[in-house]
Amino acid sequence: MVMVVREIGVVGSGQMGSGIAQLAAVSGFHVVMVDSDENALKKGLQNIHSSIHRAINKGQLSKSVADDALQRLRCSTSLQEFHSTDVVIEAIVENENVKKQVFSELDKVAKSSAILASNTSSISITRLAAATSRPGQVIGMHFMNPPPVMKLLEIVRGAQTSEDAFVTIKGLAHRLGKTVICSQDYPGFIVNRILMPMINEAFYALYTGVATKEDIDTGMKLGTNHPMGPLELADFIGLDICLSILKVLHDGLGDSKYCPCPLLVQYVDAGRLGRKRGIGVYSYSGTPKSNSHL
Ligand code: CAA
Repeated sequence: MVMVVREIGVVGSGQMGSGIAQLAAVSGFHVVMVDSDENALKKGLQNIHSSIHRAINKGQLSKSVADDALQRLRCSTSLQEFHSTDVVIEAIVENENVKKQVFSELDKVAKSSAILASNTSSISITRLAAATSRPGQVIGMHFMNPPPVMKLLEIVRGAQTSEDAFVTIKGLAHRLGKTVICSQDYPGFIVNRILMPMINEAFYALYTGVATKEDIDTGMKLGTNHPMGPLELADFIGLDICLSILKVLHDGLGDSKYCPCPLLVQYVDAGRLGRKRGIGVYSYSGTPKSNSHL
């Protein structure tokens, strides 16, 4: 049955989880954001507050709409809070085994009609669904970073995702103000299947001395009208995330064209993970941060 969604759960309070929770609360939904790490939860809530206050100061959001949104948002360290939610969106670390464990726990606590969605950027929805007793109600909702700003939602249908679940999530996406694209469940889906080889190629260009990082980025920014160059974007996404997606593409499609550039691997090994660590391809002065708003 196609469902009218009223309450949304979000697992994970990092950059993506807090951004999704903010978007859902501002869009009029009741939201519960859960993170097992209390400090991460506090930081996620702070991110939401600062992002919302910035929107108020810029005149993009009225104070009363913002206050209502914050009242509809609650936080917890327990997955049990999801007993009444209609849709739960998982946005935790990109690790298949950890995600499977969370899906198996969500399956136990969420009501039987609830849809379990993953914000995974590349891991198989079909395999996550197999960790539950409701594979027809498991689906991919891949938000782009930052979720409150980017217009796209990539919906991924697992091998067993039901038509009702798909239609429900498509309706939800429209209520969140997103334009939907639909991907079948193959490695990297649509966006990362195309984006990550470009980022990887930019690393190869840097690695083999074709050009400086600044010229590679300026080339793509001014030459193809991208808002950020590929190396700058990789820092924004997180070099560890880029590497893990490339490994999924390489393993899942078996083609050497997806082989991660050794320079990217070396940066990740060295802890140069991008903006969130204050250093990646570029150095970011001041406090480590994930983007200019966090
Ligand atoms: N939360 C809320 N709002 C935010 C925000 C955040 N975290 N970050 C930026 N914004 C808003 C700002 O408030 C501002 O809004 P207005 O224009 O209405 O005032 C707008 O976004 C632009 O922000 P800024 O002026 O501060 O900065 P900018 O012009 O440099 O834009 C950017 C920042 C939106 C991030 C832009 O650089 C951009 O679009 N970059 C590319 C981002 C991208 O490609 N994301 C997808 C990555 S791929 C992915 O996510 C998938 C994956 O699986 C890896």
